[in-house]
This record gives sequence, structure tokens and C-alpha cells, in this order.
Amino acid sequence: MPIPGLILRPYQPSDFDALLAMDQLCFPKTIAYGRHEMKSYLQSEDSHCIVAQVPGPEVSGTIAGFILTESDAEFAHVITLDVLESHRRQSIGSLLLEAAEQEASSRGVTSMYLETATTNKAAIALWKKHGYRETATIKNYYGRGQSAFEMQKHLERKSK
Ligand SMILES: CC(C)(COP(=O)(O)OP(=O)(O)OC[C@H]1O[C@@H](n2cnc3c(N)ncnc32)[C@H](O)[C@@H]1OP(=O)(O)O)[C@@H](O)C(=O)NCCC(=O)NCCS
Repeated sequence: MPIPGLILRPYQPSDFDALLAMDQLCFPKTIAYGRHEMKSYLQSEDSHCIVAQVPGPEVSGTIAGFILTESDAEFAHVITLDVLESHRRQSIGSLLLEAAEQEASSRGVTSMYLETATTNKAAIALWKKHGYRETATIKNYYGRGQSAFEMQKHLERKSK
């Protein structure tokens, strides 16, 4: 069951530090994005970021997860999908992914793809549950001995 009070909203620049910190908590050092790279993705005209916010001690709530995608014509690339460990298995990742797919589809995107570490069982299960299929194995994608699956899903074309 999703968390009561959960909202999905567009990224705003004041979220930046929370998103950077979350990415560094969610991934090993070799995979997490650094400040500069994360900023360049978030500032790109081709990227789209949706944030999941839950009620929390701060007035503005707590950011529990986010999805960052980048699109080019009919293709959208999932740059990252992160959910705080304390908020996992409550459908936040799924809701973020569905929202990103809908947003991409409304802009004419017909194919979403991503890379995920071949050892990342939770992520692979999530992608498969949402209809993503392995299209390739990219050896040493994250550095020596750390390979990735490329996974892809066809989206139905929807007009805006
Ligand atoms: C992968 C991740 C985004 C999932 O987020 P989440 O909010 O927990 O996902 P959901 O609750 O929507 O789970 C959807 C489905 O994914 C699968 N899944 C999620 N976590 C799983 C786990 N730890 N083990 C096995 N399957 C898992 C299940 O099929 C689950 O459905 P179910 O709960 O009905 O069984 C989260 O674990 C995370 O942030 N991990 C670290 C960052 C990461 O690996 N991101 C993916 C980048 S490729």
C-alpha cells in the first residue's frame, strides 16, 4: 500500500541536495552520481525529474524518492530511480516509474530503456514487474567486474 499523504511532483532546484544525498545512499560509490554530473542532468532541457514526497517532520515533508529520465525523440533513458531504504516496498518506486512513463509517453516517447547492475536483484525485479526486458549485457559498465543489463520497454504512443 502506498504511504498516506504521498505526493508526486516535479523537481525543484531546492531539492538538489536531498536528491544528491539520496543517490549516494542508494548506490555504491562506483555507481552513485557526483554533484557535477547530477546537476548537469537535472539542468538539461531533455531531462525530467519527478519527486516523491511524504509527510515528515519538516513543514515541506520528506523526499522519499525520485526518478530522473532523459529523452531524445522517441527514446527515454532512465538515469536513476532512487527510494530511501526506510520507504521501500511501499510502491513508491513503481508509482514514480509509472508517472515517468506517462509523462514520456505524452511527449511521444515510445521506448524507455535503462542500465542496471546485474547484481541488483531488487531493481531487476522491479523493472521486470513493469514489463522491462533484458536487451543486452554490458560487460564492465560500472567498472571492472561490474556488468550491467540494458533493459527496455515499449510504450504505447499517447497524445498530450
Ligand atoms: C529498486 C528500488 C527503486 C525499488 O523501490 P521500491 O519503492 O521499494 O519498489 P516497489 O515497492 O514499487 O516495488 C515494486 C516491485 O519491485 C520488486 N522489488 C522491489 N524491491 C525488491 C526487493 N528488495 N527484492 C525483491 N523484489 C523487489 C517487487 O516485485 C516489488 O513488488 P511487490 O512489492 O509487490 O513484491 C529501491 O530498492 C532502490 O531505491 N534501490 C536502490 C537504488 C536502485 O537500485 N535503483 C534502481 C536503479 S537501476
